Amino acid sequence: MSLSTTTAAVSLRDVRKNFGPAEIIRGVNLDIREGERHAMIGPNGAGKTTCFNLISGRFPITSGGISLHGERIDGLAPQEINRKGLSRSFQITSIFHRMSVFENIRCALLWAHDYRYSFWSPLWRQKRLNEEAERLLDDLNLLSRRDLQAGLLSYADQRALEIGITIAGGATVILLDEPTAGMSHSETEYAIALIRRVTEGKTLLMVEHDMRVVFDLADTITVLVYGEVIASGPPAEIRANRAVQEAYLGALDE
Ligand SMILES: Nc1ncnc2c1ncn2[C@@H]1O[C@H](COP(=O)(O)OP(=O)(O)OP(=O)(O)O)[C@@H](O)[C@H]1O
Ligand SMILES: [Mg+2]
Repeated sequence: MSLSTTTAAVSLRDVRKNFGPAEIIRGVNLDIREGERHAMIGPNGAGKTTCFNLISGRFPITSGGISLHGERIDGLAPQEINRKGLSRSFQITSIFHRMSVFENIRCALLWAHDYRYSFWSPLWRQKRLNEEAERLLDDLNLLSRRDLQAGLLSYADQRALEIGITIAGGATVILLDEPTAGMSHSETEYAIALIRRVTEGKTLLMVEHDMRVVFDLADTITVLVYGEVIASGPPAEIRANRAVQEAYLGALDE
């Protein structure tokens, strides 16, 4: 059953999530339009990562519904949702530190393409995977460090690698949880340019704390406070929204 007649890439309808007695997500309605860059902002503990965990199937919802391109996905396992074209990154960097940069990407591609490539000869598969991994590393500006242990990359490059792992399977809906957390101003600028480039033509939902980035990058901003959406709309509308200004106490004037 479809939840909506629009063709939103992702839509949440009255989604609720309890952890024990605590209701953490309290009736969230949200549409991420196809092809848009959508930022989710909100104070610490508002439930942003939890929303990602619900959309990507890591945790089951308590009630409501979530759909991907109009098809219900709540109740599916994370890998099933991933196979339908939705991929997410984690707030804490999650790469294989002891494997090379190249192997990290190759593993992600292997996992993503396993089913598709299984018809072909191992040799052909190997060649295609290697070519694809190199192309992706080139996009990430990591080709010159392909044989380095991933744990030895700079923090910013580790996060770039992680973005590469997230998009490696060719997902069309990408969820990034604070991809610029802990970065300097220049690292953030670099990361955002990279995100723009590698998510071109895809649908992006991103949690981000840096308001300059949010207002520069996003087509739509959703503000989550205590598990509820208090505003959702284009940047200008969000900037002018009084409830948002109160929640952020002038942070938007920066
Ligand atoms: N697995 C869990 N079990 C119990 N409570 C949880 C769990 N995951 C999150 N919570 C609680 O849900 C609330 C929302 O947490 P969440 O991590 O989604 O917030 P957030 O908006 O991502 O915050 P931050 O900006 O700090 O990353 C917090 O009170 C948190 O303690
Ligand atoms: Mg979080």
